Amino acid sequence: QKLDMELAAIEKGGYDHFMLKEIYDQPQSILDCLRGRLNPAAGTITMNGVDNHLNALINAQRIVMVACGTSWHAGLLAEYWIEDLCRIPVEVEYASEFRYRNPVINRGDVIVAISQSGETADTLVALENAKEKGAFIFGVVNAVGSSIARLSNAGAYTHAGPEIGVASTKAFTGQLAVLVMMALKIAYAKGTIDEKKYQHLLTELHDVPEKVSQILKDTSNIQAIAEKYKDATDFLYLGRGYNFPVALEGALKLKEISYIHAEGYPAAEMKHGPIALVDDKLPVVFVATKDKYYEKIVSNVQEIKARKGKVIAVATEGDEIIPGMADDVMFVPDADETMAPLLSVIPLQLLSYYIGIAKGLDVDKPRNLAKSVTVE
Ligand code: G6P
Repeated sequence: QKLDMELAAIEKGGYDHFMLKEIYDQPQSILDCLRGRLNPAAGTITMNGVDNHLNALINAQRIVMVACGTSWHAGLLAEYWIEDLCRIPVEVEYASEFRYRNPVINRGDVIVAISQSGETADTLVALENAKEKGAFIFGVVNAVGSSIARLSNAGAYTHAGPEIGVASTKAFTGQLAVLVMMALKIAYAKGTIDEKKYQHLLTELHDVPEKVSQILKDTSNIQAIAEKYKDATDFLYLGRGYNFPVALEGALKLKEISYIHAEGYPAAEMKHGPIALVDDKLPVVFVATKDKYYEKIVSNVQEIKARKGKVIAVATEGDEIIPGMADDVMFVPDADETMAPLLSVIPLQLLSYYIGIAKGLDVDKPRNLAKSVTVE
């Protein structure tokens, strides 16, 4: 027993919990994912799984993302990236629905399977069915040699290292790094991105690990926000564009870790329902970094403030408008909007962690959840 505890302490690398360690691993785990692949100086991204099947990917009539949980949110971001950069239609499917509803799968469709464990039963069976119908399966997997990795026709590992905390953190940012590299590679090969934008985005991606380190340097502000809102019974998370999937992921993290009911919504969709929930007790987290939706999200913040909601914003450093309106702010470094999700998700992971801690909960093993769901 004592030995087990000491071993666990060593594995946690001096952190109180695996979740915190894994959040702090991210500058390194993202770097590990980019290493040997991304080379901004040469203007290249090397990914054998993509290079060896470039034609199948470039000529895909449609790309379908299949995943569960946090990995599904990575798939949603991939939809935004691939449609924007590669001009290929993308669908994002919950594996459990996809496997049972007799989906239309045509030869020439590419299925991208996203899974940390590579063992999620619903994802695995969905892929087996799609493969039988002739789809090409590309796996974005963390666990090397796992069932989904073996079943895939090609793939790219996320190289995030073992993830022990039940709530996914570093595996998610690894998935994002792989998926955005794939999108950039396909777009470049297809000619749907111009040279200047391509180069710019390679540099922006290269800068992500350093920017994540900056966010992690001082989290005292996030801890104070966690203390302030820990007794709330509901949270709303809102974002637009690339920040919408981040809002969903922020809400999922909070549910998992703190047992607080949370919903993620596209910011503009809130007026079709969730706005009815807003009162002076409801914390509303806005993922509101500087991007092409900025003006619109400013009006959405105003709509919440006008109804006395409490606004917690993830904002870009140097922004003065959103911080002037919000009750509390968590800053992230400036970045191209394409890469912003890799940064804006970090404060949300930390917020859920610190709220869970403030409530005295077991953040590494939340009740009722399993790290890997191998039964349906
Ligand atoms: C479980 C985990 C989640 C994870 C999901 C999908 O529900 O608790 O953190 O996102 O499964 O897992 P996968 O290993 O397929 O990414």
